[in-house]
Amino acid sequence: MSLRLGDIAPNFQANTSLGPIDFHEYLGSGWGVLFSHPADFTPVCTTELGRTASLAEEFAKRNVKVLALSVDSAESHNKWIADINETQHVNVGFPIVADEDKSIANAYDMIHPNASETFTVRSLFIIGPDKKVKLFITYPASTGRNFVEVLRVIDSLQLTANYSVATPADWKEGEDVIVVPAIKTEDAIAKFPKGVKVIKPYLRYTPQPNKD
Ligand code: BEZ
Repeated sequence: MSLRLGDIAPNFQANTSLGPIDFHEYLGSGWGVLFSHPADFTPVCTTELGRTASLAEEFAKRNVKVLALSVDSAESHNKWIADINETQHVNVGFPIVADEDKSIANAYDMIHPNASETFTVRSLFIIGPDKKVKLFITYPASTGRNFVEVLRVIDSLQLTANYSVATPADWKEGEDVIVVPAIKTEDAIAKFPKGVKVIKPYLRYTPQPNKD
């Protein structure tokens, strides 16, 4: 059965481009992004891993550790990393997991046989400090991911984990957020001192609570 939101992200021990890791230990008490790519030495993946490396400070600022994964070997990953660094002008500093026996890909349902029997699709899992799966997105091999969107959803997940708010369509850090339906309007007014704008009894906005 495939993983669902709220499930514990399966732990694993694996070899990576940076040596052996225990996944949960590697994440520690912070957030994690685990993402699969179809294969080493492929063009879209080269740009994705380069983009991830270029966003290292953004992930660190959010206390997020990233790991990539494919069914290639650690030796292959390390050869490919040299190409990524050269062509994308970055320094890949995060581990790429070697999942040659596909055990991790299977645990995370990253192989979709109707897309490919052999390779992992582009799955991306965001894992919270409690090691639970908070979000997953799956793209086909032919479409590279939007890493600005990945950062945006991390911002939303981290905000909504700490405040009784939800984020509206296309929300970005700093914009107004929605008061969750479970809170009565009179309680919301007390809870959100920056103000509550009531559009409908079920549609109420407040300024982002953790912003000055
Ligand atoms: C790529 O990463 O470039 C790729 C992989 C498989 C199919 C198409 C593109």
